[in-house]
Amino acid sequence: MNSTITENTINARVLRREDQTGDIAAFELAAADGSPLPAFEAGAHIDVILASGLIRQYSLSNAPGDSVYRLGILNDPNSRGGSRQIHESLREGSEVRISAPRNHFPLDPKARHSLLIGGGIGITPMIAMAYALKAADLSFELHYCCRSESRAAFLEELKREFGPRLLLHFDDAGDANLVDPKGLCQSAEAGTHLYVCGPTGFMDWVIEQAKAAGMPKGSIHFEYFSAEVETGGEAFEVVAAQSGVRVQVGADQTIAQALKAAGVKVEMYCEQGVCGSCICDVLEGIPDHRDHFLSEEEREDNDQIAPCCSRAQTPRLVLDI
Ligand code: FES
Repeated sequence: MNSTITENTINARVLRREDQTGDIAAFELAAADGSPLPAFEAGAHIDVILASGLIRQYSLSNAPGDSVYRLGILNDPNSRGGSRQIHESLREGSEVRISAPRNHFPLDPKARHSLLIGGGIGITPMIAMAYALKAADLSFELHYCCRSESRAAFLEELKREFGPRLLLHFDDAGDANLVDPKGLCQSAEAGTHLYVCGPTGFMDWVIEQAKAAGMPKGSIHFEYFSAEVETGGEAFEVVAAQSGVRVQVGADQTIAQALKAAGVKVEMYCEQGVCGSCICDVLEGIPDHRDHFLSEEEREDNDQIAPCCSRAQTPRLVLDI
């Protein structure tokens, strides 16, 4: 493996691996050739490109401004294999190809107060956010929801760094200890923004609770790791405007699959509507959004679509692809 940094990928080396809990390990990465890594913002993630060809996205969980990228990765038995491969193959000194950081989950600079809620391994982007807010001396609170203390990664560091701004919610500590997103949002000062990351069901619930508390949609920020998406439905036509290719998307086919069969490539990583890599502009027609990536406001605009999973409400869609 050579060690040059190209525009899109970086050959990285694992400087440090620390097993945090039984199933979560932290990996600190630096460029294999010692070059400085590109800077990152809180909320950013990188792609990890595995030797098997699998590509997975992981949030950066350390302080923006650090010289390394730190990932916290759960060895998830329900995953499609990426996290298991990383746990099994990456040791200190291992090399791995990664992308430069991308940020689809940035902090809003206008927030008067930030309510950070991380569920399980969803704490990782929240840690970077908490570091950034602390460094900027901005108001925030970090809620860490976990099944039990023994399953909480990064706990000692979070206690040390964030003191009273860290609030712990362990499922096995009784109902009174559970996070109450609705109550938090109701009692939050005007101008508060909510950020949530974690398992899909947990995130759906937090977002629902925040909406029920009257929090404006534009103040609710989220990033899904993975999702169950229902991709089937009625057949419809898609026109790829850049090439003029027309395809019929079958009932059990995705737009991306139909386009691929006709020779139009769509860049995709997750194929679950969570990573945003496939998003393209809609020039005509109304999408039936199935993804978890676009915000509610972006969905309502109907001018973008995730062709890996979303469908059409109109007989035809024309996409800028
Ligand atoms: S490939 Fe990830 S959102 Fe479509």
